This record gives sequence, structure tokens and C-alpha cells, in this order.
Amino acid sequence: MQKIGVIGLGMLGNAVALNLLDSDFKVTAYNRTREKTTQLKEKGATIVESPKEVAENSELVIIIVKDANAVKQISFEDSGIIKGNHEKLIVADMSTIDPLESKNISKKFQDFNINKLDIPVMGGPNIAITGDLVMMASGNKGSFEECEKVFKTIANKVFFIGESGVAHSVKLAMNLQITMLALALAEGITLVKKSDVDPKIFLEILNSTYFKTGMSEKKAYKMIDGKYDATFTLANLKKDITTMTNAAKSLGIKLPMITKAEEVYENAIKEGLGDIDYTGIIEYLKKINE
Ligand SMILES: NC(=O)c1ccc[n+]([C@@H]2O[C@H](COP(=O)([O-])OP(=O)(O)OC[C@H]3O[C@@H](n4cnc5c(N)ncnc54)[C@H](OP(=O)(O)O)[C@@H]3O)[C@@H](O)[C@H]2O)c1
Repeated sequence: MQKIGVIGLGMLGNAVALNLLDSDFKVTAYNRTREKTTQLKEKGATIVESPKEVAENSELVIIIVKDANAVKQISFEDSGIIKGNHEKLIVADMSTIDPLESKNISKKFQDFNINKLDIPVMGGPNIAITGDLVMMASGNKGSFEECEKVFKTIANKVFFIGESGVAHSVKLAMNLQITMLALALAEGITLVKKSDVDPKIFLEILNSTYFKTGMSEKKAYKMIDGKYDATFTLANLKKDITTMTNAAKSLGIKLPMITKAEEVYENAIKEGLGDIDYTGIIEYLKKINE
């Protein structure tokens, strides 16, 4: 498998596509907003005018767009992927979406004899660029095996979990951790600062214990310095939190903490913080503690 299509050249999609090009795959790409395709074009990708053309030129099409509605639009609407269907085509969706929606989208692709895999990932553009993401995959096992070499170029760990939808359930559980960690750090830093303690001392102590995380060792220092250059926007994390609370409703379970977190992130967006990195949630705490 050499011909790979990428639809969606946002922060994550652009980095994934650049890594595939670097790894000698032939990349055909489409992005709704044409300006975002410049870097990839300069590196040798073929930029086309529609998802249909991406499908026509690819054996594997990777979708990396915002949400389930965007996935449905680029898949099934005018000039969508299904219009470029051919015998060898496999589709893999890396967008973070609701597990049930994902299952339904897979079924709809199946109506056109196309196998659609779920391949949500952990890690941002900074590690996607070197192929160091962690991937959770679900869907048709045979199609997964056909694509495995490509997936191992994108991610340094690839977990095949089972039937369509389940990889997204695990991905939501992963982003639940991110949400809580960012909030816990934001609240911890706010508490020690108000107690006239240097928050870097707090981090040094935290990072000397069992409770340290990658976030407390890296992004937390940027939170103290007020540097929120986005690798994953606060608005996109809020989109995932809402997906988690909706998934909880569909599953008939109660997840009280994420429901509370949804309100906090929603308020942060109302304060105009949606476009900065999700760790900028600390700015919201600053605002309510002024
Ligand atoms: N960034 C990360 O660290 C990260 C990590 C894991 C998973 N993810 C997931 O990956 C996906 C992309 O994230 P990102 O950070 O790359 O977001 P982003 O920078 O905001 O990019 C979003 C992409 O989706 C496209 N899009 C949105 N609505 C669309 C529509 N209706 N039709 C066609 N294209 C549409 C955008 O096109 P335009 O340029 O035209 O707006 C853009 O290419 C999301 O589901 C996110 O949750 C992100």
C-alpha cells in the first residue's frame, strides 16, 4: 500500500501527512480551506479539489477532521469519498468522534462495499510529525492488517481493539484523563499561587512523586508562564467532552466529574478562550478569581 489520501489538514492532519511524505508514501490531500495546503504541496503532496478525487487517487484514505458532522459531509455529500469509490479503497477515520456515530458511519460505508476503520490517536502534531503517536484501531481486522504498515508509520504503538466504534470509546476515556489533568494542574497552580508559593516549587515537588505526568513535567511549566501556543485547542477538547457526556447518556451511565468539567470548559469558551491550547483553562481560573 503506497498511495495514501489525507482529508483534513488542520494541526494534526498536516503533521500526519508530512510524516507520510517523509516516509516515502505518495500523498494526495484535500482541505476545505485551501490556504492550509501550501506547506504540504511544497513538500511534494498532490493537492486536489475534493474528497472524491482523494479517494480516486488512494488505496487508503485517512480522515482527520473536526467532528462527526464533518466526517459525514466529506464522506457522503457532493464530491464526497463514496463518489471516488473503487475496488481497492479502504477508509480510516482519525477524527475524535462519538463511538455510536462511528459505528453508523462504518455501516453507511459498508453499503458502498467500503471498509471503514476507526483509528483515533493520542499525541499531538509535535509527535505526529515523527510518527510517534499512539493509535487505537477498530473495525474489519483484515482491512486493518492491510493498512498496518501505514499505521505503524504514523504511530509507534498501534492497538487493535475490536469491532467498529470501540476504539473511539477508549479514545474518549483517554481524553477524559487529559481534561482532568489539565484542570487539576490549573487548580493546583492557582491554589499555591494564592498562598504565595512559587508554583514551580509545587511542580518540582509533584514531579518528585508517583503522581507526576507528562503534562506536569512539560505543559504545566507553560501554564505558569502563560504560554498557550495551541497543539490541541480548548474548543476541540470541549467538543470531545461533550462527546463524552453524550456517550455516557447513550450507555446509560453517570460520569459526574466530566459533566462538571463540561460546564467549566464551556464557560472558558464563553470568555473567549476557545482558540488557545486546552491548558489555557488556567486563564479561566484567573478570570473567576480576580
Ligand atoms: N491536535 C491534536 O493534538 C489532536 C490529537 C488527537 C486527535 N485530534 C482530533 O483530530 C481532529 C482534528 O484535530 P486538529 O487539532 O487538527 O483540529 P483543527 O486544527 O481545528 O483542524 C480541523 C480540521 O477539520 C476540518 N473541518 C472542520 N469542519 C469541516 C467540515 N464541515 N468539512 C470539511 N472539513 C472540516 C478543518 O478544515 P478547515 O481548515 O477548512 O477549517 C481542518 O482541516 C479532531 O477530531 C481532534 O479532536 C487532535
